[in-house]
Formats: sequence, structure tokens, C-alpha cells
Amino acid sequence: MFTTRHSRAAPSEASSANSLNSTLRGRRPRGDPSAAGPHLARRYTRRVAAIDRTTDIDEAQASGLLDMDAAAFRVAAHEVVDIMADYLASIERFAVFPTIEPGSVGSAFSATPPEDPEPIGQILADYRRLVEPNATAWQHPGFLAYFGTTASGPGILGEMLTAALGQNAMLWRTSPVATELEGVVVGWLREALGLPETFDGLITDTASTSSLIALGGAREAAGIEAASEGIAGREDLGRLRVYASAEAHSSIEKACMTLGLGRSSLVRIPTNDRFELRVDSLAEAIAADRAAGHRPVAIVATVGTTSSTSVDPVAAAADIAERERLWLHVDAAYAGAVAIDPMLRAPFAGWERADSIVVNPHKWLFTPLDASLLLSRRMDVVRAAFSLVPEYLRTLDRETPVRDYNEYTPQLGRRFRALKLWIQLRWFGLEGLRRRIRHHLELANTFADWIDGAPDWERLAPVPFSTVCFRYRPPDWAGDEAALDDRNAAIMDAVNRTGDVFLSHTRLAGRFTIRLSVGNLRTEERHVARAWTLLQDAAAAADVNPASSPSG
Ligand SMILES: Cc1ncc(COP(=O)(O)O)c(C=O)c1O
Repeated sequence: MFTTRHSRAAPSEASSANSLNSTLRGRRPRGDPSAAGPHLARRYTRRVAAIDRTTDIDEAQASGLLDMDAAAFRVAAHEVVDIMADYLASIERFAVFPTIEPGSVGSAFSATPPEDPEPIGQILADYRRLVEPNATAWQHPGFLAYFGTTASGPGILGEMLTAALGQNAMLWRTSPVATELEGVVVGWLREALGLPETFDGLITDTASTSSLIALGGAREAAGIEAASEGIAGREDLGRLRVYASAEAHSSIEKACMTLGLGRSSLVRIPTNDRFELRVDSLAEAIAADRAAGHRPVAIVATVGTTSSTSVDPVAAAADIAERERLWLHVDAAYAGAVAIDPMLRAPFAGWERADSIVVNPHKWLFTPLDASLLLSRRMDVVRAAFSLVPEYLRTLDRETPVRDYNEYTPQLGRRFRALKLWIQLRWFGLEGLRRRIRHHLELANTFADWIDGAPDWERLAPVPFSTVCFRYRPPDWAGDEAALDDRNAAIMDAVNRTGDVFLSHTRLAGRFTIRLSVGNLRTEERHVARAWTLLQDAAAAADVNPASSPSG
């Protein structure tokens, strides 16, 4: 183990650089340290039999040439693995959300960049001291906020190997294995989700990017040659329109902004009292837009909306999309993972008719951020929307046509995300993933039962998946919505300040709504029970300050 000493020991004895060189693990140096400048040469002149990694820089740092050598890397990497294993093994030592104030973290770090190399042991000691305790503990089983993103053990191993391989998956030629394994893993996931072979796809960083690409495809499919001609200043087009429910994720609106359609091109369709898109309103909005000379382009249906995890009627949306010849994109970023269980596919009925679908393995398939699966039945159109091949990217030496994934994305360089997915899909097996997801559904249902059975609490939305929306509402507060909002914000804040669990909030039908979402791989019933105890304690506490603001 590296020590946690932070002070740099003074050189014990100055000597010539060369005399140290010969003592360094019996190997010859790769460069003359004195040529690297006075600072480095001075730091390198310690006579030590073996490097003390806490206080000494290594050979490559001293020479100012080349990378950390393999031997030094091996020692440091073993240490990093120990740090990671310690962190995960003792994660409950940390507050899920650290008790710190905004602005307090940055000032703990040096304001100026390091002029000279620093010993890796010291850097890692600072990592433990400054980084771990100031991180929001997404790996903590008490993380019940937003939608969970667990970096599973096998997923982390995949990330480590990915980093070491250093692949850029932009062209087949720049990484044959990244390119072809991506195809394999996309096929595995498609099959696991129960979708037909007509779907193909790719792995992106986030659902935001996946939906951007999907709507780029939709814009291209509208037949307006947007990729080549653009849409600015074109009187012939009318206003392009995209339709999504009032509960659809902001990434859809951002995609409209980014694609030049503008936020106002997104028509937010009202929802019913279950927060599901109203198909009658959708049909009316499209008809009204056509009558006004606008150009409908796409419908976005969400399975598992961000606030309440409501499920839009996908099959009915598909009927309208087919009738109106519109692109149907299904955003199942969070809930899509559930479809790997054939017994739980009812909410997804009709999604096989979509033009594109997004599911995020980095949400509920326990893949380290980032990994988003974009599937499409119209990959040729997606390619038309984003392909641009300058001479320096042209691949001349291939006989068999293979995919260059950069032709399907706005960016060129791409990470080798398929590796971690391949490793972790094999480690869990689909059945292992199904069991974990079913367990999360059970935990959420148990929590919902507790809420339903408590007279002072009310549930504010159905629980189709693993997220429960609720609030404290004692009978004598009924009707005073502003006071209830403040009170619930204060309750959530008090719970989060304990550091045992972390909850987040939303607004449903105008009401401040606390959300508890089970999605962390390590969450057990005791964590959900702890959340329930803390909520009741906070509600009961006479000192809850109704005016305090939410923290999450
Ligand atoms: C339904 C839905 N779509 C899209 C997103 C955006 O996901 P990402 O952070 O991967 O862009 C979210 C995030 O929570 C979401 O809930």
C-alpha cells in the first residue's frame, strides 16, 4: 500500500544523476535526466535502493521523456486496484451525498498547475483525501435518487482494459475489434430486448446523443436533404415539427435545438392523469400543424419517463406514425432494461414498430457511464444524416464492406464501449441481469406498499417500474399546496443530509414530489427501509424547517 503521507521527503543525499540511474531497479535510464532541465535533474538525484513511491518520481518523469514504464505502471496499477476495491468494499462509510457546500471542493485543490512531476503515490494519496469523500456516491446502495447508474465490478474491469487498449473506434481500420465487437454486442442486446433482426445499431455515450442521432435520422427521412442543404433560410420547408409528451426528457428538446429545428419545433402533447401521452391530442396536434402548413417529422414516445416513469402508448403512437409517415423514436433510456425479461415486456408493446429506440445500459444494466444503445430499423437513413468521409478517412484496403461507425454519429472519435458490455454481459448472463432487475422492481413495490399503507403519505403516480413518486400529506395540511411543497422539500433535504440515503425530486401536476428510484446493484431491502424510517422521522421532527430548500 502507498502510505498516505503528503509531504515530500527532502533528498537524502545529492549525487550525480547517473549514479542513481544504476540503482533504479538495476536498469539503465532511457534518457539523460540532466537534459530534462534543472528541476527534473535535481529531483532525480536521490540515492535510493528502491523508489519510495510516495516521495520519489520515477525514471520517465525524471527524464522528461516517454510514458510511465511498464514496471512502474504495474506497481501503480495494483495500487489503484486496491484503492478501487477498498472504495467499493467500504462504500457505506461515505455519505451518499457529501455534507459540503457548493464551491468548497475546488478550493481544496492547488490553484496552479504542477510545474514539476509529482510522485504517483502522492497523487493517489491526494485522490483518496480529496476526490473520494467529495464525490456523490453513485456506487452507494443508499443512492436512490434520479435513475441509478452503477459501475458494476465486471464493467469496471472492462473500463480498465478499454483504457489500456486505447482504441479509437471511428473506422474499422482504426480498430477492427472495437468495430466488429460493437456489432456483436449490439446484436446480443437487440436479441436480449426481444427486438427483431430488422434492428441494427450502435453504442453512443448517452441517451442524449442517441436521441440526437435518431432525430437527425428523422430529419433526413423527411426528404428535405437537410444534411446537404441545411434548413436555415429555406422558405420551402415550413416549420419542422417533432411531437413528444409534456413528460418527455429534456434531451429531446435539446436535440431539436442542436439540429436547428429550434425548441419551438417540439410540440409538447398533454398527458393523462397517469402522465402518459394522450394519443387523441397527438393526432389533433399533427392535423392542426399540417393545416397550418407546418411539416411534421417525428413522434417521440417514452417508456419510463424521467419524472414518474410513465409509459406512453407506443402501439397507438406507432399507428399514428405509420399513418402520417413520421419517424417514431422510442426513448426507453431507463426502463428499456426491463425488456430483457420476456415476462415483463407488456409496457413495450409496439416498440418493435419504431424507427429508432434508445436504451441506456449505463442506467439499469449496471454498465459504468457511459454506454447508450441506439437501435434503428433505418441505419441507412441515419448514415445519410451523418456521413462525411474526407480523403484522410477513406479506407482503401478492404474487400469486404465493413462499417465505419463514425459515419453514423456527429463526432469522429469513439470509445471502445463494446468491450465492457461484452465482459459484463458474460459475467452476469442475461438471467443474472433479469434477477437483479426483478429484485429492484420488488423493492420499489415494497416501498410503494409502505407509502400506500401510511395515512399521512400519498403516492403521486403509478409504479410501472422501480421508481416511486410520493409526498407527505397529513390530513390537516390538505389543500395548502404551497405549504406541502415547502414541507416536502424540507423533509427530503433532512433525509439527504443524513448521508445514509439520497433522494431526488420532481414536480408532478404542479406538486413537489419526492422520488425514490431503485437501480443500484448493491441496494437491499434494508436501504429502502432506512429511507422510509428517515422520511418518517423527518416528517415527524418538530424542527423540520418548512422553508429550507431541497438539496438534490
Ligand atoms: C427517459 C430519459 N431519456 C433520456 C435521458 C438522458 O440520459 P443521458 O444522461 O444518458 O443523456 C434520461 C436521463 O435520465 C431519461 O430519464
